[in-house]
Amino acid sequence: MTSTFSRDRLDFTRANMPEDFQFGVAASSYQIEGSKFGGCGRSHWDDFAATPGNTARGEDGSLACDHYHRWAEDLDLVRDAGLDCYRFSISWARVLPEGRGQANQEGIDFYERLVDGMLERGIKPFATLYHWDLPSPLADLGGWRNRDIASWFADYTDVIMRRIGDRVHATAPINEPWCVAWLSHFMGHHAPGLRDIRATARAMHHVLLAHGRATQAMRALGMKNLGLVTNFEYAEPADESAEAKAAAHLYDGIYNRWFLDGVFKKSYPQEVLAGLGPNMPENYEQDFDIIAEPVDWVGINYYTRKLIAPDGTNQFPALKEVEGPLPKTLMDWEIYPEGLDFFMRRVHEDYAQGLPIYITENGMASPDMAKDGAVHDPDRIQFLNAHLAKVHKAVEDGLPIKGYFIWSLLDNYEWALGYEKRFGLVHVDFDTLSRTPKASWHALKEALKAE
Ligand code: NOJ
Repeated sequence: MTSTFSRDRLDFTRANMPEDFQFGVAASSYQIEGSKFGGCGRSHWDDFAATPGNTARGEDGSLACDHYHRWAEDLDLVRDAGLDCYRFSISWARVLPEGRGQANQEGIDFYERLVDGMLERGIKPFATLYHWDLPSPLADLGGWRNRDIASWFADYTDVIMRRIGDRVHATAPINEPWCVAWLSHFMGHHAPGLRDIRATARAMHHVLLAHGRATQAMRALGMKNLGLVTNFEYAEPADESAEAKAAAHLYDGIYNRWFLDGVFKKSYPQEVLAGLGPNMPENYEQDFDIIAEPVDWVGINYYTRKLIAPDGTNQFPALKEVEGPLPKTLMDWEIYPEGLDFFMRRVHEDYAQGLPIYITENGMASPDMAKDGAVHDPDRIQFLNAHLAKVHKAVEDGLPIKGYFIWSLLDNYEWALGYEKRFGLVHVDFDTLSRTPKASWHALKEALKAE
């Protein structure tokens, strides 16, 4: 690896990493499949997007990348890039349109075809059971606010994993619990779009209870290689003041430590409980044995850091984000590879202690430059180089980092921001749905080809 990062090729090859190191790409059901196909039930994202003002240009995932019909072509793109793994998610509403009860055979068949399609191409399936498309009938019952969601989720897990659990390589129940709970119930940016502290406290706990129950359900089926995938943002105090440091520490507690503390330490950070306490479910401590059901690996989703300052109020959490000085992606997220380094070491030393760690998401939204039928994305190549250098160093230092997944295979539905923010290694023309591998895809293929 070189220290000045290239913009048109990757600075690493397979030979730079241990032989068993896995390279992959990640995607999710609602962002690519097309929720209107194949008997899929409505999810709270269909409802959220149907409410004016919630998503950019009112865009939703009803068609998305039409992966439901084009999955074979998409898996070919994974294989042809030389990637080892594909991290995909299963839509709860596609499997159980009402969230419970009657299964949609067509939906289950789709995931069987998809998993078999990966295996036929030599791609390892990394499954996620929940990447945010909650069936609407369950949202009507309170969704993540309702403690029963843990049982509904465990039942759904059992239904789908009885069919595909023997063929998936690895599984994580829930993608990014912070987004499921805080972003969606406190900040209101994602479905169900609440700004409600009581709903938030309940979701923060129930999301982990559901994780534990689903993990137990999969253990009961004899499944192996079960993980936990959380997202991390490096919280930097905006200045040297004690107040800014306390605000950043609280942000770190809410965002980064809450979920790992629950699963690995059977506790929640005190400074967060100080704010959520009165709204926590009664006797929540009694659930820690379920929440702490042992996992086999930990997944890190990492994108950026945030500068944090007090917001001048005394209303919990009384903090705000301040614009930082570093170069930013199209999401307006600062590019800060040092944060990935920090979290790999923290997860290893403070929590997972010896368990395999995967970087389950890392990537950027960047402007595309289409020229002569090719799509150039030099910023993405540079971003990947800078972050992979940190992964490489961590591996050299002996950390058990076992794989790295790029978000994402395709340009796709970036939730409330719609289709404008393009994260793909492969460009998608949303009028024709045609796929064009970008320069980053070609660079990856070159880096990964067999020696
Ligand atoms: C994390 C989420 O898992 C994914 O759904 C999202 O598109 C990316 N980050 C980029 O924001």
